[in-house]
This record gives sequence, structure tokens and C-alpha cells, in this order.
Amino acid sequence: MEKNESVFLKKSFVVITGASRGLGRSIALQFAVKFPANSVFVLMARNVEALESVRKDLKTLSPEIFVIVRQYDQGNTDEGYFNGLFDSVLTVNKLSRDDFEQVLIVHNCASTGNIDQTALQLSDAMQVQSYYDINLSGLILLNTSFFSTFSDPSQSRVVVNMTSGASKQPTPSLHLYCAGKAARDMFFKVLDKEEPSIRILTYAPGAVDTEMLRNLETNASSVPLQKLVNGLRQDDKLLTAKEAVANLVEVLEDNTFENAAHVDNYEPQAKPYREKMLKQ
Ligand SMILES: NC(=O)c1ccc[n+]([C@@H]2O[C@H](COP(=O)([O-])OP(=O)(O)OC[C@H]3O[C@@H](n4cnc5c(N)ncnc54)[C@H](OP(=O)(O)O)[C@@H]3O)[C@@H](O)[C@H]2O)c1
Repeated sequence: MEKNESVFLKKSFVVITGASRGLGRSIALQFAVKFPANSVFVLMARNVEALESVRKDLKTLSPEIFVIVRQYDQGNTDEGYFNGLFDSVLTVNKLSRDDFEQVLIVHNCASTGNIDQTALQLSDAMQVQSYYDINLSGLILLNTSFFSTFSDPSQSRVVVNMTSGASKQPTPSLHLYCAGKAARDMFFKVLDKEEPSIRILTYAPGAVDTEMLRNLETNASSVPLQKLVNGLRQDDKLLTAKEAVANLVEVLEDNTFENAAHVDNYEPQAKPYREKMLKQ
């Protein structure tokens, strides 16, 4: 795709993972009013009821968008689970890959893992493995499945990798999360080297008031981390999902970001709090 040209101009096939709540829900709602009529949105997560409710909201906001709900578990390790997933979405809905000028996948699904433990308490092999099944292996396999369906480099192809400041900043309690996000960011840097025609945005949304953050605030083994999040809340510095996604929309509209480089528009928001935490 052309740099500098808004990502929202072309009739698109748009996949959003973790679309059932938080940032994913907001991405779906804000993207739906930007893309041209007859674009198709595929909303993915485990909770079908929540996805159906997002679909309803989306249809009210933007009736010309066709919305598909596709339940999946990104941590599923069954052989072949991800193979042909998007081929089947197209077939079941009587669509063809050639119906679209552009395809886009937002890898938004993530979890924080065993934040109530410290790094040296991680002794349960199943737990550690299951964390990376969801947050790394599943993402890679879903991504492969997407690009095996949309393998034509002449079609405009875009990836949004939702990352975090934690991919660069070692953060107590977020051992699994930090390492997983860093690995994902590097995975997409390698993809960029192998497939330079794919436009890749690795985007950190800042500290956003979602279930994920509220869980950290209450359950993190690191009290300084709990205090950091709480300090942001007290000082009214947490972003709403709507605010964070409005910024993501701007970045994709400008489309001037360096491919697969870490884009963090809200680093100034958290920096003073993080510095305070590291001194404690
Ligand atoms: N909130 C923040 O401050 C913040 C900061 C930096 C980066 N981020 C990143 O932004 C993204 C969204 O975060 P959020 O705060 O919106 O998180 P969230 O509220 O916890 O939402 C996570 C989403 O992922 C889905 N999900 C979790 N496990 C799944 C699985 N096994 N299979 C399929 N879907 C699964 C959940 O849906 P189901 O439960 O229905 O499956 C949900 O839709 C994440 O990548 C996160 O790392 C967030």
C-alpha cells in the first residue's frame, strides 16, 4: 500500500481480534464509520454474546458495513485449528478475496498472565505455555492463516500489531506480558523484512482504562505498579478506549509511520509515573 495515503479509503476486509470489549470494541466502532460502504468486518474473541452486542452497535452506527462474528480461542493448540479459518469465513458468507481492494488485520487480543506472581514464582509449565499459546503462538498462527488466504502482494495488505510500552520497559509483575509483547514486535519486524509490501503498524495505545488495566491496578504482585496505575487514575491521566483509538485512527489516516517500528503516542502520559515507580 502507498505510504501517506489514508488506510481508510479502500473497500476493505477488516479483522479485529479481541473485539468483544475494551480497545478492540472501540477499534471496531471507530473504524466502522471510516471505511467505505460494503467493507466487511470480522469480529473475533471467545465471548460470542459480547461480540454480538458489538455487532449490533456497529450496525446501528454504520449500516453499510457487513459485520461477521467469528468466535475463536487464540490459545487453542489443536492441530490445524487456525488453518483455512479465513477461507471458511469467506465461503460461509459467500464472499471472495477479490471483492476487496484492501485487507487489514488488527492483532488486538492479549492477556496479562500471572501478574499476581513475581518472575521467580513462575513454576507452572502449563500456565507459562498457555500464556504464550494465546499471546504469541496463536497470534503467529492466525497471522499465517490470514496471509495464506490473502497471499496476493498486489492487494493492499495492512497489519496493526497492538503492542505496549511494556515491550520496551521492563515492568515488575508483567514478566510474561513484557516478554511476549517484545517477541511479537520482533516477529513483525522480521515479517517486514520478508514481506516489505505488507504495511505494518506496531502501536502502543498508552495507559487505557479497560478491564486489563483495572486487573493490574488490583492484582499486580508489584505494589509500585498498582500505585503507578492508581496515580494515573487519581490524576485523571488514564485514557478512555475512545480517546486512545481516536489517536490510532489518526496514525492510520496519516500513514507516515515507519514500517513495523514501535509507535507510542502517549509515552509522555506515563513517563513521570514510571520514573517515580522505578525509584521506589
Ligand atoms: N489497556 C491498556 O492500558 C493497554 C496498554 C497497552 C497496550 N494494550 C494492548 O491493547 C490490546 C487490548 O487491550 P485491552 O486493554 O482492551 O484488554 P481487555 O479489555 O482485557 O480485552 C482483551 C480482549 O482480548 C480477548 N481475548 C483474551 N483472551 C483471548 C483468547 N484466548 N482468545 C481470543 N480472544 C481473547 C478478550 O475477549 P474474550 O474474553 O471475549 O475472548 C478481549 O476482547 C491488548 O493487546 C493490550 O496488550 C492495552
